[in-house]
Amino acid sequence: MTLIDLEIKKKLTYLGHACFLLDTGEKKILFDPFISPNSIVQEIRKKNLDATQVANLDVDKIECDYVLISHGHEDHVADAEAILKRTGAKVVSNFEIVSWFAEKGIDNGHPMNHGGSWEFDFGTVKYVNAVHSSVLPDGTYGGNPGGFVLCIGDTNIYYAGDTALTYDMRLIGEDVNLDYAILPIGDNFTMGVSDAIRAAKFVKCDQVIGMHYDTFGYIEIDHEAAKKQFTDNLVNLALMEIGEQKELI
Ligand code: NI
Ligand code: MN
Repeated sequence: MTLIDLEIKKKLTYLGHACFLLDTGEKKILFDPFISPNSIVQEIRKKNLDATQVANLDVDKIECDYVLISHGHEDHVADAEAILKRTGAKVVSNFEIVSWFAEKGIDNGHPMNHGGSWEFDFGTVKYVNAVHSSVLPDGTYGGNPGGFVLCIGDTNIYYAGDTALTYDMRLIGEDVNLDYAILPIGDNFTMGVSDAIRAAKFVKCDQVIGMHYDTFGYIEIDHEAAKKQFTDNLVNLALMEIGEQKELI
């Protein structure tokens, strides 16, 4: 058996918008679930082209151990309550959002706040700054928005959440050797392509996975132009198909 065989494969599935399912090989971590109200996701399910892809997008069947929520907006929490109640997964977010779920009877959450790290059974999570806003769908104050830096075995991932470009991202680059940065690129509500490229430089990561684009009219992007702009700046941009699974290094 070679070392490669002994390595646990980590897999990332894109569920549309800012939602990803990360399978560490041992635990499954879901980010910002917004699946059932996402019309693009539902169109793909209706077309029924690829059975695995379609199955990955079934809100009633998604299995996960953790749900990480970057901030309180509807397009990041829409399916969280149902998934948390069905799976018994642990919600990890800022204090205000975890408290909001606790009031709905989901009382096994893990509250964090900016700059704090915690060692979970799959690895370490740090809750980091995002420049954005954060109100929950019912109008409840959703604390300050954030992103997550995950260190899982040898793999380090930055999930930025919804954010503007900020100089604070340099702190992440100084702190951790990132393998992947999952960055918003849709512009209007978050960074656009140009600022996401600058963010990649700030966090010192040349493997970017795009999110928060195409879902609504305001954030439609030209995929080829975005990829070219990244490549021209020596950063790779992956735009995953919705339902697609990617093996991480
Ligand atoms: Ni938002
Ligand atoms: Mn958003």
